[in-house]
Amino acid sequence: MRQDVPLAQASRLLNHGPTVLVSAAHGPQRNLMAAAWAMPLDFDPPKVAVVIDRATFTRQLIAASGELALMVPSGAQADLTVTVGNTSGQALAEADPPTDKFAAQGIGHFAAQRIAAPLVEGCLAWLECRVIAWPELSAAHDLYLAEVVAAQADARVFHGGRWHFDDAPPQLRSLHHLGGGQFVLPGASVQGERRA
Ligand SMILES: Cc1cc2nc3c(=O)[nH]c(=O)nc-3n(C[C@H](O)[C@H](O)[C@H](O)COP(=O)(O)O)c2cc1C
Repeated sequence: MRQDVPLAQASRLLNHGPTVLVSAAHGPQRNLMAAAWAMPLDFDPPKVAVVIDRATFTRQLIAASGELALMVPSGAQADLTVTVGNTSGQALAEADPPTDKFAAQGIGHFAAQRIAAPLVEGCLAWLECRVIAWPELSAAHDLYLAEVVAAQADARVFHGGRWHFDDAPPQLRSLHHLGGGQFVLPGASVQGERRA
């Protein structure tokens, strides 16, 4: 049964790719936010696109450094994802003494291989990216394109070039945002075969 969907809800129809965490750093400042609107853009070199709202503190650090990390959080990180997606790193940076979400929330992290932004412990995948500068695109649509310069993944659920969620416990599955902090986890996979 087909029904019209109000255009105001149209983004929700494509909202549930894996939600990512976005980290960025510039000088002594570092930050972390959630983003549901991220997607791959090209194979070689690998490129991604992500919407980073102009009001976010993360955007300031991305604009200043030209770098960002996209990370795929796990089912165990739903609260962390909603928390960093609903709090302001700016307010923490302006506190006396200045702090950030990593310290305030006790978020475990480790050094990236190619960029300055910290990577979050416990994620399922980590993509280190350099921004492909396109100021008009970012100014008009809050859209950032970036080239992936290093990538890592949790070998328990990503090996042989693809995700293996069928036998994974919920805490090792990715988060797919439905809206309002509600997520679904990927369920049973189905193998499509090309028809003759
Ligand atoms: C599940 C979820 C998905 C989100 N997706 C996006 C997104 O795709 N793009 C965006 O700009 N903000 C998104 N947000 C909102 C930012 O994460 C939020 O504005 C965050 O507080 C920004 O933090 P900052 O100001 O410290 O950078 C999302 C939030 C949540 C909880």
